Amino acid sequence: MKIALGSDHLALAMKDELVRYVESLGHEVADCGCYNMEPVDYPDIAALVAGRIKNGEAERGILVCGTGIGMAMAANKIRGIRAAQCHDVYSAERAAKSNNAHIITLGARVVGVELAKCIVRAWLESCFSGGQSQKKIEKIMMLEQA
Ligand code: RB5
Repeated sequence: MKIALGSDHLALAMKDELVRYVESLGHEVADCGCYNMEPVDYPDIAALVAGRIKNGEAERGILVCGTGIGMAMAANKIRGIRAAQCHDVYSAERAAKSNNAHIITLGARVVGVELAKCIVRAWLESCFSGGQSQKKIEKIMMLEQA
């Protein structure tokens, strides 16, 4: 798959590690920054990653900030995008199977890098189950009109 990754400066080290890890799993990675410790506002990076998915340049995205919260809030503001904060393997699996999330977000100050890799792998290896979940996804997307 084509995977877009991004982080703010607080999560740069984890993002760089995840770039290498996702590539090692055989995926094509678009590294959307940041690229150094210069402070950057997480919504700007979330917009880059979500934008790539929205315009078809990437199938999925991974966003990392201090907590994963701001990245999730920002990415979910992009119309059509579903982002899920995942700090455990089970949630990551469900984010794909039940929620068909385009993006997962992680907090570099919350989870260690080895757990982050397990979370990413579980999500990348899981696919949307469809069935009963489809109607609920459609209802989520309808809320964009609310
Ligand atoms: C720093 O801007 C910090 O707020 C950010 O990394 C993240 O934790 C936001 O949710």
